[in-house]
Amino acid sequence: MSSQRVESKPPEERPPSTAEPQHQYRNYTEGKLLERVYNTYRLMHTHQTVDFVRKKCAQYGPCSQRRMSVMEVLALLDELVDESDPDVDFPNSFHAYQTAEGIRKAHPDKDWFHLVGLLHDLGKVLVLFGEPQWAVVGDTFPVGCKVQKSVVFGDSTFHDNPDSKDPRYSTEYGMYQPHCGLENVLMSWGHDEYMYRVMKFNGFALPKEAFYMVRFHSFYPWHAHGDYLHLCNEEDLRMLPWVRELNKFDLYTKQEELPDVQQLRSYYQGLIDKYCPGELCW
Ligand SMILES: [Fe+2]
Ligand SMILES: [Fe+2]
Repeated sequence: MSSQRVESKPPEERPPSTAEPQHQYRNYTEGKLLERVYNTYRLMHTHQTVDFVRKKCAQYGPCSQRRMSVMEVLALLDELVDESDPDVDFPNSFHAYQTAEGIRKAHPDKDWFHLVGLLHDLGKVLVLFGEPQWAVVGDTFPVGCKVQKSVVFGDSTFHDNPDSKDPRYSTEYGMYQPHCGLENVLMSWGHDEYMYRVMKFNGFALPKEAFYMVRFHSFYPWHAHGDYLHLCNEEDLRMLPWVRELNKFDLYTKQEELPDVQQLRSYYQGLIDKYCPGELCW
């Protein structure tokens, strides 16, 4: 499989064609799931350090955990409810189909993008490998430099993180060079970076935008709030509209009405057979 084909035309900035949000998403100040959400972020912001991320990259980078097809991993996600998500309290596989179908309606000619919708959260299988939720789910942020203001609960959750007292890591740039590019930044470990590595390792035949969207879709402080631009290069800015496009469907297709997965499976199996067939290394 050859990867890294380039889709040159970025998506236009426009609202999603699926139903407009009636509901306010990502509310971190109130709601029935708030305590669970806060607790997940408190643990994440205490334990995600430069050393921790390097250790996890070394552990999972070789993709030597298990051999499974995409559909097998998707089925495993039925056992998972994301504890960082204030909007959703149903199994994650439904979210995969909802996201993919939203993209399919808005971009009927881009079948590879439909597949990105289905794949984008498969890295959450890390929870089923025994990783705690704080090392898998939730928004990501760069480790190794000062935390910027839009990080969720950032004011109250980093005081026990050893890196916050380390002078190498607590300045604006920390261990990075200005505009070094996000590919050279160590992000907090989670399902984005893991799935990106699985896609690379197994040679998914998708355009480079697909790899990029998966890798940074949880980096809300950047793609939704415009923080950390001092670490970005031109390539990151070129990719930003794609990340935002995925985000529209990642966020606004979350509904309690669940898709008929049985009926959708054969279409998505066809895309899997085209772009990432068979048993893969996880
Ligand atoms: Fe995600
Ligand atoms: Fe998602």
